[in-house]
Amino acid sequence: MPTIFITRKIPAESLNMLEGRYRLKVNPAERPVTRQEMLEGVKEADALLCMLTDKVNREVIEKASNLKVVANMAVGVDNIDLEACTARGIVVTNTPGALTEATADLTWALLLAVTRRIVAGDRFVRAGNFNGWAPLLFVGGDLSGKTLGIIGMGRIGQAVARRGLGFGMKIVYAKRERLPLEVEKEFKATYLPLDEVIREADYLTLHLPYYPEVHHLINRKRLEMMKPTAYLINTARGALIDEQALVEHLKRHKIAGAALDVYENEPKLTPGLIELDNAVLAPHTGSATSSTRRAMAEMAAKSIVAVLSGVKPEHVVNPEVYD
Ligand code: GLV
Ligand code: GLV
Repeated sequence: MPTIFITRKIPAESLNMLEGRYRLKVNPAERPVTRQEMLEGVKEADALLCMLTDKVNREVIEKASNLKVVANMAVGVDNIDLEACTARGIVVTNTPGALTEATADLTWALLLAVTRRIVAGDRFVRAGNFNGWAPLLFVGGDLSGKTLGIIGMGRIGQAVARRGLGFGMKIVYAKRERLPLEVEKEFKATYLPLDEVIREADYLTLHLPYYPEVHHLINRKRLEMMKPTAYLINTARGALIDEQALVEHLKRHKIAGAALDVYENEPKLTPGLIELDNAVLAPHTGSATSSTRRAMAEMAAKSIVAVLSGVKPEHVVNPEVYD
């Protein structure tokens, strides 16, 4: 019976789908696996169902002599050494689509929270400081008529654009490859060079995957390009932003604010970040709705069943393994 190593407890329906047909080794702890547990766990595994918090690097792949599939319960796969997997013919899968709407919703929640100062306002009320309506109490920014700048216009970026249209915003975007005209038309979106998007945006939001070439895409120089009234939102990956530079920028109020769901050295935070009152900080919950997490686990489980049954799964990240 093939063995599947599962690095965190996943929703019961997905476990049930696998039980009986496979030998399951599930990390019972309410924390990520340690390095040692990972190396031990993959040793005999035919399949690995892992999380974005698991580093699946060359060392892990070398230990995993039976491994045929790595199913990441995430859309981003920057935690996995794809080259090492491909070289060994190991199929890598992810969960695109499943989390698109949930992540766009969270992006919107953060965007509204930072511009309308929801978190600071909540703290203010709870502290007993609310003494009645006042003309300048917690005033923030508008959405209607403002420019939403989207970097990375894949599924999630487009779902964010759709929300922006509903709020009466103008959409500009940057992407490695321009979208087909009919898609642009759907979002009334204008394609611009990256730096133009950064200069024009009142709200700048990141929706591209992380890979080394885009490390610190939003660096000090690009932060300087942003309008002083603009907000930066990141629900993609932390290392797309130079977090140290962002902290300094926010401290000196050189942009209006930032809302982050992801961090450069997650779960560690750059010193100074938590003291800022113009930042809203979420604990990487972009896809955290119960139905989305169930769907993600199911996709990962199905990918494993497919590979172990000799069938090509739906969402393969390294299709070269089938060449
Ligand atoms: C979440 O960050 C994901 O990549 O699924
Ligand atoms: C994720 O679903 C993306 O491709 O944007």
